[in-house]
Amino acid sequence: MVEILPADRALAPALALLGAGEVVAIPTETVYGLAGDATNGEAVARIFEAKGRPRFNPLIAHVSDMEMAERIGVFDPLSRRLAEKFWPGPLTLVLPLREDAGIHPLVTAGLATIALRMPRGFGGELIARLGRPLAAPSANSSGRISATSAQAVAADLGERIRLVVDGGPTPVGLESTIVKAEPDGTLRLLRPGGVAASEIEAVAGTALVRGAAGGQAAVQAPGMLASHYAPNASVRLGATELRPGEALLAFGPRRAAGWRQAVAVENLSESGDLREAASRLFSALQALDRSGAATIAAEPVPMEGLGEAINDRLSRAAAPRG
Ligand code: TXA
Ligand code: MG
Repeated sequence: MVEILPADRALAPALALLGAGEVVAIPTETVYGLAGDATNGEAVARIFEAKGRPRFNPLIAHVSDMEMAERIGVFDPLSRRLAEKFWPGPLTLVLPLREDAGIHPLVTAGLATIALRMPRGFGGELIARLGRPLAAPSANSSGRISATSAQAVAADLGERIRLVVDGGPTPVGLESTIVKAEPDGTLRLLRPGGVAASEIEAVAGTALVRGAAGGQAAVQAPGMLASHYAPNASVRLGATELRPGEALLAFGPRRAAGWRQAVAVENLSESGDLREAASRLFSALQALDRSGAATIAAEPVPMEGLGEAINDRLSRAAAPRG
């Protein structure tokens, strides 16, 4: 059986498991991560196994400080500026991987680049104590909704892992924003997330280019595979009226027509605050899923700020299942 330990009592047990090449679910400011020693191939293989994740989908390496980051990735000036401004925090930088970084090749799925992030809170402390980077994807079965609470991790992965560190609900609630600075100075947004694109653009002084170079043929951030973040129910976007039997994912003060007949209702933010909405998105989808409704009707969410990432996750949840 999986053990759930509060963060203030979990540091030593988590270190012992990680040191032995085991995986541990840990809280970060974005979502829970399923962490393993990024330099240990067996530990990394266990992550892929526990998630049922395809091995061609690379992982993010999490670091505790800039020195550790510089030993792993090659920072161009723009990436360094973004790291200085947003780390620790919900931003992931894709950088050229140093040959002597010691990162196991399973982490990068053999790519010459590495995704790096410095998390806030328990994760950062854990990595500093371990003295090695942690590979950590979101702590959910591949293709399912990311977990934003220890209970959600245990419900999904409890049979396959030994320890979940409980740090309470994750404050941001969406995965990190992933960007990559190209040699020609293009700054690519590979995945919208916990830092709004506009905030990054303000620091970078340049507009973000959406999507990977070369479109579908290029290495995709597989969070970009269409049917990702899938609840059991199907999801109907931009709902302005309720249909019989639907559950309602509401946003803001005004309800879709006929909302009183909804099987269940979750409001992401009564006041229309996108930050609050982001933090509640995954737990709200899970709650509506538990209602047993065949369809979740989602009210429109504006595209500004964190709305871009919220709409990204919703449209993946709504995509046909492959
Ligand atoms: O907030 C987060 O980013 C969370 C927490 C746990 O840190 N982690 C997370 O990991 O969302 P994961 O594995 O669910 O998503 C990482 C994404 C994947 O879509 C993966 O394809 C992409 O990062 N990725 C990893 N390495 C990459 C690389 N070298 N180039 C492009 N994309 C990469
Ligand atoms: Mg994920």
